Amino acid sequence: MANLKIKFCDVGFENPTVLASGILGVTASSLKKVVKDGAGGVTTKSIWLEEHKGHSNPTMLGTENYFINAVGLSDAGIEKASAETFPEYLDGKSPPGRDLRPAPIIASIVASSIDDFGELAEKIEKCGPDIVEVNISCPNVEDEFGKPFACVADDAVAVTKLVKGKISSVPVIVKLSPNVESIGEIAKACADAGADGFCAVNTYGPGMVIDVDMRMPVLKNKVGGVSGPGIKPLAVKAVYDVFKATGLPIIGTGGVLSGEDAIEMMMAGARLVGMGTMVYYRGSEGFGEVVREMDEWCEKNGVKNIEEIIGIIK
Ligand SMILES: Cc1cc2nc3c(=O)[nH]c(=O)nc-3n(C[C@H](O)[C@H](O)[C@H](O)COP(=O)(O)O)c2cc1C
Repeated sequence: MANLKIKFCDVGFENPTVLASGILGVTASSLKKVVKDGAGGVTTKSIWLEEHKGHSNPTMLGTENYFINAVGLSDAGIEKASAETFPEYLDGKSPPGRDLRPAPIIASIVASSIDDFGELAEKIEKCGPDIVEVNISCPNVEDEFGKPFACVADDAVAVTKLVKGKISSVPVIVKLSPNVESIGEIAKACADAGADGFCAVNTYGPGMVIDVDMRMPVLKNKVGGVSGPGIKPLAVKAVYDVFKATGLPIIGTGGVLSGEDAIEMMMAGARLVGMGTMVYYRGSEGFGEVVREMDEWCEKNGVKNIEEIIGIIK
């Protein structure tokens, strides 16, 4: 058996697979189930300062080749996360009992103003996550054009600096949007502003799917973010670009469904591999299966330690 253990920003993971934000990450019991099924770590659904209503149904469509969603980042807010999700997941084992947790938990936070990110950062640190992931890929109201913070380098830098200034006990990683001219440039700007690592990438798009018989878009919101198998080559290239630009730890996310896909992400530069849409195809049991497939690949290819393959594509 190959050594699949990974240290990411000094946090230890039993294997490189991580539940991506937004899928099964709402309740402590679903997060625990994903760990039981084999994930090396979990990410919460993105948490807002206040309750946030999402879009109306239908919000998702899955096909063989891609997935499109306009869930709209619905969430109950930080109060619920701090009163229920975190205490239940951690079973009261806040620091210093980190090694007793089911697996590292990454807290994803999202806001539509820079100030809200600051307030959220203070509150989320108190919940006791192992890593904070700053989701700057959602459209904001502060930027003049309503673009996601992740699409404007100055905004991405401002959020990164503010959150890093508030959080001192755990690493802060930035979740990047792929919908930019140069993801490497945005990543470099965030790295210079103090980011400890990245999650790359969020969904592509927005895209649109039309039901030709009904002559209307399938999603009530008309457009949505695209994920799943169809985006994998794009996501692998984005991870490669971010790794080349910064050399920082990356959770490579986008279209990973199998052990070989996960190996590919790591060769591009990812230390951990996020999976979201995979759950729709393989169920949460897919985590354990992907880990087994990674191990089989390592065995077949004489890889004793998964570290050996990280970022080997020059
Ligand atoms: C239904 C759904 C909900 C999502 N919600 C979030 C979210 O709350 N926060 C976030 O940062 N990303 C969210 N994402 C994006 C995923 O975390 C991931 O970055 C993206 O789907 C690409 O990975 P995948 O192809 O493995 O799904 C969501 C994706 C899907 C499909």
